[in-house]
Amino acid sequence: MGLFAKFVSQTRKPEGVLGKLMINGMNGGHAKLADWGMTFLEGVPASDIAELGCGGGRNAGELLRRYPGARVTALDYSALSVEKTLRYNKAAVAAGRCSAVRASVETLPFENGAFDLATAFETVYFWPGLEKCFAEVCRVLRKGGRFLICNESDGTDEAGLKYEKIIEGMKCHTAPQLAAALSLAGFSEVRSERHPEKPWLTVVAKK
Ligand SMILES: C[S@@+](CC[C@H](N)C(=O)[O-])C[C@H]1O[C@@H](n2cnc3c(N)ncnc32)[C@H](O)[C@@H]1O
Repeated sequence: MGLFAKFVSQTRKPEGVLGKLMINGMNGGHAKLADWGMTFLEGVPASDIAELGCGGGRNAGELLRRYPGARVTALDYSALSVEKTLRYNKAAVAAGRCSAVRASVETLPFENGAFDLATAFETVYFWPGLEKCFAEVCRVLRKGGRFLICNESDGTDEAGLKYEKIIEGMKCHTAPQLAAALSLAGFSEVRSERHPEKPWLTVVAKK
């Protein structure tokens, strides 16, 4: 595998030196996308938020800022991501508003109905068995809770399909594919939004 492929493959599970570089890059590189995605949370109340596939923790920090009364539990199966998220949100961790746990979204280490909002930025491409993972998210949400998915690929764009070929196990989903998996997993009222100029996609589903 060439260096470029090795580097971009770090998006799937950051590890080692290349993983550290990738995590720093993701925090800056995904900020505009995540902020656009979060605009679809306006009016959505939340007190307990699960930030899944949290990477470097910048989006957990932004959720803490947008929801000043909420607690954010970040989760990632990469040890580097968990460490970086805790460092990035040091003040909120010390204040008891933020924590980060190492686990896979396949088996979430949370009680049923523990959260009223779950978010997933640039991560569902890598989740093994979308419907099963979405069912786990549904399980840990309260009735009426929301799940926000935000992707820079709408599953049809050239860049997304190029990375799919390079990164093992990556799959860029279309809005209908995500909606179908969400419905099968138990969500209702699935709403998709596409950016007017870029192939960015946000899906908000209600339990
Ligand atoms: C492309 S990064 C995005 C990170 C961050 N959400 C952002 O927008 O910058 C994908 C993240 O999802 C995590 N991830 C992928 N599959 C996962 C799984 N099955 N369980 C938990 N985390 C996962 C990776 O370790 C990585 O940190």
